[in-house]
Amino acid sequence: MTKPIYVTQPYLPPLEEFIPYLEKIWENKILTNGGPFHQQLEEALCSYLGVKHISLFTNATIALVTALQALRVNGEVITTPYSFVATAHSLLWNGIKPVFVDVDPDTLNIDPAKIEAAISPNTTAIMPVHCYGRPCDVDAIQKIADNYNLRIIYDAAHAFGVTDDSGSVLNHGDLSVLSFHATKVFNTFEGGAIICPDAKTKLRIDQLKNFGFVDEVTVVAPGINGKMSEINAAFGMLQLKHIARALDSRKEIDAAYRVQLKSIKGIRCLGEPGEFAANHSYFPILVEDDYPLSRDELYQKLKSHNILARRYFYPLITDFPMYRGFPSAHRDNLPVANSAAQKIMCLPIYPNLTSENITQVVSCIRGGLQA
Ligand SMILES: Cc1ncc(COP(=O)(O)O)c(C=O)c1O
Repeated sequence: MTKPIYVTQPYLPPLEEFIPYLEKIWENKILTNGGPFHQQLEEALCSYLGVKHISLFTNATIALVTALQALRVNGEVITTPYSFVATAHSLLWNGIKPVFVDVDPDTLNIDPAKIEAAISPNTTAIMPVHCYGRPCDVDAIQKIADNYNLRIIYDAAHAFGVTDDSGSVLNHGDLSVLSFHATKVFNTFEGGAIICPDAKTKLRIDQLKNFGFVDEVTVVAPGINGKMSEINAAFGMLQLKHIARALDSRKEIDAAYRVQLKSIKGIRCLGEPGEFAANHSYFPILVEDDYPLSRDELYQKLKSHNILARRYFYPLITDFPMYRGFPSAHRDNLPVANSAAQKIMCLPIYPNLTSENITQVVSCIRGGLQA
């Protein structure tokens, strides 16, 4: 049996490069609570990403929960069913009712044309997701938010380093949340961040992620412990040195897949990233009806060849028991998302994936019905 090809593999710089960072931590004995590496990484990321303020977190889920708290969002929030479950979980953790809106068939991001009909007097915000790191229709979403006085919190967990014609895609809306989980383009083992538009908002978020402490004796809110530790922040500093190469390599893999999959009937790649600077965090394909196997049959076939693709996002969030009772979760309300969830599969993509690996994956897909 050949070695498994996973859907992703965390990028790890050479271990010896990390040792000096550890020595520094041992020397200064500051392990967390906004230590020197935490401060350095916030500054370095602001500059790398082209954003004004950033607050590092222990992970994106806690960052999403905190972002909603920071803006005092309540009532109902419009969001997408086509995402990782943490998007909607962050709403339930705040006692907010999710209202699900269908996605656009080309981008699989929330369809702005369907948002307005989902707004009620209780709606306070929209939480879209830049799915697979592909930007939402940010202008259309902003227009709706302006018309109805709604806040926008982008779940930008996949969108590290993605830009559009106005600069970083993370500058849209009121807040954006990044994930630095091991599976992401830029990882700090576990980690996340909130992109904040101004210093005042960052200060509130910094307080909320530290139990609500303002100073030694003052607690102003029931904050959480969402702080990133020095080890994670130091690792982030090292990762930044390698990120350009990692992104280049993903771009090449994306291009190779597109060329090799082009002639396979029934396999549709999600649209080319186009003009915006993509991060190629995922390589999603849709297994259409004219492919000889169903998506699940192809998934199993790849698995039997030790190729571990993933069905992101299947099941839909709205299929999980804590969501399926909401009226907006009904399948009739979400035909595009339901159809995509039946066809989608993300192929392996990560910086060290070799061209032989790509050929192996594509040959297995090309093989269709053959074992
Ligand atoms: C869209 C989306 N939102 C949120 C999360 C949660 O991120 P984390 O694992 O950093 O909490 C993830 C994935 O991990 C995700 O894919």
